[in-house]
Amino acid sequence: MDSRLYTLHADITTLAVDAIVNAANQSLLGGGGVDGAIHRAAGPELLAACRRLGGCETGDAKITPGFRLPARYVIHTVGPVWHGGTHGEPELLASCYRRSLEIAAGEGLASIAFPCISTGVYGYPLELAATVAVDTVSDFVAAPSSIAEVIFACFSAGDLALYQRLLEARSG
Ligand code: AR6
Repeated sequence: MDSRLYTLHADITTLAVDAIVNAANQSLLGGGGVDGAIHRAAGPELLAACRRLGGCETGDAKITPGFRLPARYVIHTVGPVWHGGTHGEPELLASCYRRSLEIAAGEGLASIAFPCISTGVYGYPLELAATVAVDTVSDFVAAPSSIAEVIFACFSAGDLALYQRLLEARSG
């Protein structure tokens, strides 16, 4: 297992990392799930900063400060809605992870935490999504960058067990 990748059973809003990733929607103006939790914990300054970003395409990402969060930055990405898997969902989900890491590396950040993007309201099957997440992050960290630590923040024990299994399988 790559020592830079690990999983935690955690509310992502509590993590004191350089950046946490938000599973947002194209408006970037908040919502439910992890998006709602991040906006509540960061305070109203986050919504004001997001208003200035002008939305975000599915598969892309944009960065703001973390305001009242313990994390320094929030990287907002928009995952695909699951429509059965033949509408570019895997490529768009991989792009979310890749663009978030590119932006973090562009800022010289060392630690980043991801939620299970698209697997809540957007309906992406968890095991398929987690496989895309682990594969894409592993590929990214194989090349030199500032990224030293990537956390998969799992909100449920079931999600945690799946990520642990996938990460252990990669260690061969
Ligand atoms: N910390 C970590 N993970 C969390 C937290 C938390 N505090 N809260 C929820 N999760 P979802 P999506 C997990 O629905 O499917 C929003 O309304 C949750 O258990 O938040 O990408 C946006 O505005 C699940 O595993 O995001 C969009 O409209 C994961 O986060 C839409 O939902 C993602 O679930 C995005 O849907």
